[in-house]
Order: sequence, then structure tokens, then C-alpha cells
Amino acid sequence: MATTGTETEDAPSAAEGAKGEANRKRGSEQGEGGAGGGGQKRKKKEVFIYGNYRNYYGYRIDRNVGEDPRLEAFNKQWFENKDCLDIGCNQGLVTIGLAMKFNCRRILGVDIDSGLIETAKWNLRRIMRQDKVATKNVKAQESSNSPSQSSPGEGAPEFSNGNKHHDLFKIVSFRCENFVESLDGCSEQYDTILCLSVTKWIHLNWGDDGLVTLFVKIWRLLRPGGVFIMEPQPWTSYRRNRLVSEVARENFNTICIYPEKFREILLDKVGFRSVELIMDRLVGTATGFDRPIEVYHK
Ligand SMILES: C[S@@+](CC[C@H](N)C(=O)[O-])C[C@H]1O[C@@H](n2cnc3c(N)ncnc32)[C@H](O)[C@@H]1O
Repeated sequence: MATTGTETEDAPSAAEGAKGEANRKRGSEQGEGGAGGGGQKRKKKEVFIYGNYRNYYGYRIDRNVGEDPRLEAFNKQWFENKDCLDIGCNQGLVTIGLAMKFNCRRILGVDIDSGLIETAKWNLRRIMRQDKVATKNVKAQESSNSPSQSSPGEGAPEFSNGNKHHDLFKIVSFRCENFVESLDGCSEQYDTILCLSVTKWIHLNWGDDGLVTLFVKIWRLLRPGGVFIMEPQPWTSYRRNRLVSEVARENFNTICIYPEKFREILLDKVGFRSVELIMDRLVGTATGFDRPIEVYHK
């Protein structure tokens, strides 16, 4: 059985949000207090074996910053009018944020956890609702001001876009899927693929084979000239999660492709043309999440 204190990527403890399904808790609940527990019931702790945390953004993003700082580091050209894929999208906040900030043509978020995908869809509806209200308020303000005093979009709150995102439902979609299940079905094509803080979870659950499947599938899904944006977790952080399940423990002990080798594999074996390091250490992010972000060009 997995022990508590190992389920977290860095420090999360909250298990809130959407109702999960059985698979995310595979071998994951700690039993009640054992010997010496005085008969007292100890609260069961969920273990998120895929990194499928319920309150990921609650602890990942520095409360004083607001927007996910990774969006600041991204280049508009990778997203504007592009077909994008966000692998391991969790609750969809980065996916939706990218669509709104950079005007993607389409963006699909996929995640292995159906509960998180439901929350992502709910977030999309919520943000669209907020956006409509904000747009209405701006319009009302504009019509009450004299033309010389107002300008379109002025005074709109964070998620407002002055009608720009009225088609967000057509742009953003979410799908529950295990991305590394198979290499089949690579008929879709994308200009930009993101894989942010997901490699460790795929590596721990599916070993080196899973990691290679991930990289090859990304390559196949990308159009020529496309970009792959990756935020890999360092090997030191694998140790903290190696006991989330028996499978993870076994894989941890047999992994040969360490994160410092990813670059070599992607360039020399998978076939990416070049790589740029866009962030060596992310600022404005909570401790433990200041990871490098790399962009690979096909
Ligand atoms: C630590 S979270 C990162 C969330 C998001 N990418 C970010 O950086 O804000 C890892 C996410 O990857 C998802 N995940 C793990 N293995 C996956 C797989 N094989 N296929 C799809 N999603 C997966 C988890 O459910 C979880 O939501």
C-alpha cells in the first residue's frame, strides 16, 4: 500500500474539486489508524497516482501573481491562429488561459482523469459566463459615457475580451484520454503541443516505454515546423512520488532514461530539429515549481 506523505508532487494536500473515479485512486487510500491508534479513525488520504491533483493551481501559483507565470514566458507566435494540444491539462485553466491570451485557432486539452475533464468543462462554462457579464458591463458603461470618454474594451476585468472570445466554446475542447495508451489514431495534426509537468507521471506509471511512446506520438501529431513545449520534472522530484503505487515503485527502480537525457532523445532519436530553453527558472511560481521550460522545433 502506498504511504502518505508520498502522494504529493511538491506540497499539495487538498483533495477537493470534481468527484474522481476509481482509477485515480488505484491502491491509493491509506487505511485507518493501525496498532497504537487508540481506535481513533484517521482520515483517509487520497493519493493521486497520475499527478491528477484536485487543487493543483491552488498551490502551484503564487497567490500574489494571479496569472500562471508560464503564460508570461510563452511566445504568441506559437499559439495565435494555431491548432494546439495540451497533454495532461488537469482542470483546463492553462488550456483556457492560452486560448484567451493568444487567440488559438483551436486548443484541445486531454487528461487521463475524467473527473478533472468534467471540471475543465465546467471551468470553460464559468469563464464564458464571466466573460459575457464583463462584456455586457463594458457595453453598458460605453453607452452611458459620451463617445469621446470611452474606448472599446476599456475597463474590462481580467477575463473580459470585449467580445473577442464569444466563440471560446468552438475554440476550446476537452477530452478524457490516456495519451500513452497507444500510438494509433495520430490522424489529427497540431502546430503546437504542450506537455507541462506531466513527463514524471507518465514515466512513473508506464516506465521508459511510456515516455518514448509520449515523445514519438507528439512527433507524429505535430505538423512540420510545429513546436513542442515541455516542462519536465527533475529526477529529484521522482523520488518523492515513487511510492504512490507498486507500479510506480517498480518503474522508479528500472528507469534508464533520466530527465537530463530527454533532450538527447528528442533531438537525436525522435528527430526534432532544434531546442530552445525559454525559462531556466520560472519566477512568480510557488517553491518547487520553478522548473525549466524547453521548446522543441520539428
Ligand atoms: C501535475 S499535473 C500538470 C497539469 C498541467 N499540465 C499544468 O502543468 O498545469 C499532471 C496532469 O497530467 C495528467 N496525466 C498523467 N498521466 C496522463 C496520461 N497518460 N494521459 C493524459 N493525462 C495524464 C494528470 O491527470 C494531471 O492532471
